[in-house]
Amino acid sequence: TTISPLIAGNWKMNGLFHSLDELTELAQLLTTGEAPRAVVVVCPPATLVAAVANQGASSGILAGGQDCHAQGSGAHTGDISATMLADAGAQFVIVGHSERRADHGETDAQVCAKAEAAIGAGLKPIICVGETEAQRDSGSAESVVNEQLAASIPNAAEHHDVIIAYEPIWAIGTGRTPTNEEIAQMHANIRARLVERFGERGESFRILYGGSLKPHNAREILAIDHVNGGLVGGASLLAKDFYTIISAV
Ligand code: G3H
Repeated sequence: TTISPLIAGNWKMNGLFHSLDELTELAQLLTTGEAPRAVVVVCPPATLVAAVANQGASSGILAGGQDCHAQGSGAHTGDISATMLADAGAQFVIVGHSERRADHGETDAQVCAKAEAAIGAGLKPIICVGETEAQRDSGSAESVVNEQLAASIPNAAEHHDVIIAYEPIWAIGTGRTPTNEEIAQMHANIRARLVERFGERGESFRILYGGSLKPHNAREILAIDHVNGGLVGGASLLAKDFYTIISAV
């Protein structure tokens, strides 16, 4: 199976409508340089999803949300549904990011319901998993991740495309990354779990690496077996850096 690589930028709570210059610059880089091998996704705050979808279209930048509610509509003040993201032009949505799990106490079951809602709305969910530093130190990284995978991926993945993002929590925004061997081992483990559960389909799901993916380490990390792209935080905020990472696959 050949999987086309995907690089997604997660802007987190950064970005204003009046300062979409970086998006414009990224679009310029993508259209003037060599055509990228990777599918390029930008996940801005919800207020900017429509703008990214519209302004990115001509340069191949696809838009994604950073979270969605499990329901399609209703009395949930402050929440946003997968249907609404799709309506705004998104094609992807991140679910279960460790910051959502930590800041909002999201459980695997909730993440699973969100992923299912995303699929129902025609979006591809980017389902995040990853261990804490203490869990890695105690040797339980794989079992933690396997538990998250089992409970966060909906059965609907049997017939729909889902994307897994492995993000060791201790590597997010810290400038620290696992060794290439550790990344290779975890991604091979995730692939094995996907195949175990979904058979041949499990071979086709992208497994992204996230956590301090930067211009200087992108080439070697993105070349690792079963690393089918990246989920980029900080380095996605600067067009030049993000483009360098995109160009590294
Ligand atoms: O979703 C993105 C990740 O949390 C990675 O963030 O690249 O700033 O470490 P980072």
